[in-house]
Amino acid sequence: PITGADWVEQVHELARRRNAVVLAHNYQLPEIQDVAHHVGDSLALSRIAAAADAETIVFCGVHFMAETAKILAPEKTVLIPDAAAGCSLADSITADELRAWKAEHPGAVVVSYVNTTAAVKAETDVCCTSSNAVEVVESIPADREILFLPDQFLGAHVRRVTGRDNIHVWAGECHVHAGINGAELTAKAQADPEAELFVHPECGCATSALYLATAGAVPAERVKILSTGGMLDAARRTGARSVLVATEVGMLHQLRRAAPEVDFRAVNDRASCPYMKMITPEKLVRSLREGTDEVHVDPELAARGREAVQRMIAIGR
Ligand code: 13P
Ligand code: SF4
Repeated sequence: PITGADWVEQVHELARRRNAVVLAHNYQLPEIQDVAHHVGDSLALSRIAAAADAETIVFCGVHFMAETAKILAPEKTVLIPDAAAGCSLADSITADELRAWKAEHPGAVVVSYVNTTAAVKAETDVCCTSSNAVEVVESIPADREILFLPDQFLGAHVRRVTGRDNIHVWAGECHVHAGINGAELTAKAQADPEAELFVHPECGCATSALYLATAGAVPAERVKILSTGGMLDAARRTGARSVLVATEVGMLHQLRRAAPEVDFRAVNDRASCPYMKMITPEKLVRSLREGTDEVHVDPELAARGREAVQRMIAIGR
């Protein structure tokens, strides 16, 4: 296996030679997170990509994230160590389906989660991530209808928080987060009533977490619906001894680094994203050596999607 201090030095040397910056999402393998120049959630990484000085961005994450970096920085070379690293959520709506949905709701504002293809972004008014979905929706006049896509659980969360009833939500989901179910969350929360709950809004169990709070089973202030970046901020501030984490298990690595004294436990320890885990140390080295896999976005699609993505990185934390 190629890990350890030599490997870290090798990656950094290859990156220097290529004038490359290595970015890693919070769901990457721990060794990839540890070697990257920057680790973060999808919003933070998009902002870093947009502002990067390096000529090349090596995106250790999934394909839509690398595509978003290319849309924001078209003059840079964007590499992903394995272009086959997709996303079941991004696959849950096509540009044709979106065009048909828009035709049913003329005049509606299209808000797309960043987990979408470049072709879908080209049909979008404003993108958002789980960090700023509420702020993005709040930036739209209250009397305008909204088409929110593709994640139904994030859509339901945004509807709940904003209190708006003119938001139509696409019925897509992420298979990893949808699989973190309410029964498991309830059982674990009841077994550890002192624990805080950190729940990603893509989770099918987000509603169960709120139900536990309203039923008084878990004090409401211990239930937090957060993006992966929001979880890290909350981890640094938590006074709890233990935290139950409902999201992809790669997140535990950054949480444990941020607050080593806290016992972070996965609600579902099988919630591993197979696409995120396609980025291996071997593929990262190959990417830096050989310049693979380069991400291309059709310039016309990129131009049409750029404004929506730029609005996204300008709004929220
Ligand atoms: P974050 O925006 O919270 O990083 O989430 C990205 C993602 O792919 C969730 O599955
Ligand atoms: Fe897509 Fe889900 Fe994997 Fe995130 S965890 S990249 S939403 S499949």
